[in-house]
Amino acid sequence: MPYTVPKLPDFSTAALDSAVRDLLSAIQEEKDVLVNKASEPSVASSTKTADLKVFRDRWLARKNGIVTQITELWLKLAPPDAKGEVGRRVNAVKAEVERYVGETQERVELFARQSTAALESLGRLDSNLQTLKTSELERARLDITLPGIRRPIGVEHPVIKTMNEIVGVFRNLGYSVEEGPEIETDYYNFEALNFPPNHPARDTQDTLFIAAQESKPLRDRLLLRTHTSPVQIRTMQKMKPPVRVVCPGKVHRNDAPDATHSPIFHQVEGLAVDTNITFCDLKGTLDHAMKALFGSSVKTRFYPSFFPFTEPSADVQISCIFCDGKGVRDGAPCRNCKASGWIELLGCGMVDPNVYGFVDYDPAKVSGFAFGMGVERIAILKYGVDDIQLFFQGDVRFLEQFG
Ligand code: PHE
Repeated sequence: MPYTVPKLPDFSTAALDSAVRDLLSAIQEEKDVLVNKASEPSVASSTKTADLKVFRDRWLARKNGIVTQITELWLKLAPPDAKGEVGRRVNAVKAEVERYVGETQERVELFARQSTAALESLGRLDSNLQTLKTSELERARLDITLPGIRRPIGVEHPVIKTMNEIVGVFRNLGYSVEEGPEIETDYYNFEALNFPPNHPARDTQDTLFIAAQESKPLRDRLLLRTHTSPVQIRTMQKMKPPVRVVCPGKVHRNDAPDATHSPIFHQVEGLAVDTNITFCDLKGTLDHAMKALFGSSVKTRFYPSFFPFTEPSADVQISCIFCDGKGVRDGAPCRNCKASGWIELLGCGMVDPNVYGFVDYDPAKVSGFAFGMGVERIAILKYGVDDIQLFFQGDVRFLEQFG
């Protein structure tokens, strides 16, 4: 039932209070209905304006508007002694009604002016604004012209990205992934890998040892692994051949940081052990991997080298990707390969039979190969980065280029 102005039962304060309360809650309700309808994108602007006029007239029309009616019904009928009080209340109600009508008009007209699309977001904004206005945050100002808060989405770090790419190449060849601890014992990092007792790699020059380990036997002393090769041993201890694994991970060496050295870097280790694995398998596998990483025109070359845990051992070089192996670029000697046409990339070899002795494999029955490559080195070549330190400084301007 729409609100109609009642006659007052009497002119007491209580009667006035209750009549005023009814009237104000009626206008509030009508206002809400009107504003809600106006915020509907499907309602035509002309309807909104027409509704507004009906609302305005209903409450404020000089002839028979509700405000006029209360003057007639409440003020004029009041006995002389109540006139003063009733007059004040009627005036207060009139002011309130004007305020409601004004607010309604402001908002309905705003809605009536907007396009359908704008209305949808405006509707949400308007309801937020109203909550803000009426809540305790009344005084908080919402400046909708300020830029929003931006939450940038991160990207994979170039080292992790490259590591995943390398691992992906070997996964496609059927290799599985193994990981090992970064804090290793001397046994796994050196002894079981056939490092002779006084091998220079054990030297404090290279290895970061955990302090206060002197009371332990050498093989149990802890250190930060200097390569991922200990994971070879851990893998062979827990699986029997055939084995085909890659072991990505972080390694540490006591190197002063410069453009090509970092005390922390990453490697991907590989190990394949089976019956009848030969150096040809090693060459074919790494040649394929290098082509997968650097493009099919890249050539590989195996150069004699030494590692205690492989025999024979080799360093793998790829034809220089900057000068196509020519050694000359733009008429000048290529700086990336020092004009040699080749870039040294990783170490590898056939697993030394002595290593099998540490893991209970029979060297008469099985053979295998291993390789280890530096992830940063590969990332540097792939992405043309000129300083390894950039990978570890966390500068967003550098990192976001890999997104
Ligand atoms: N672990 C060796 C290094 O860090 C690399 C390597 C791995 C060599 C496996 C041969 C076989 O230099």
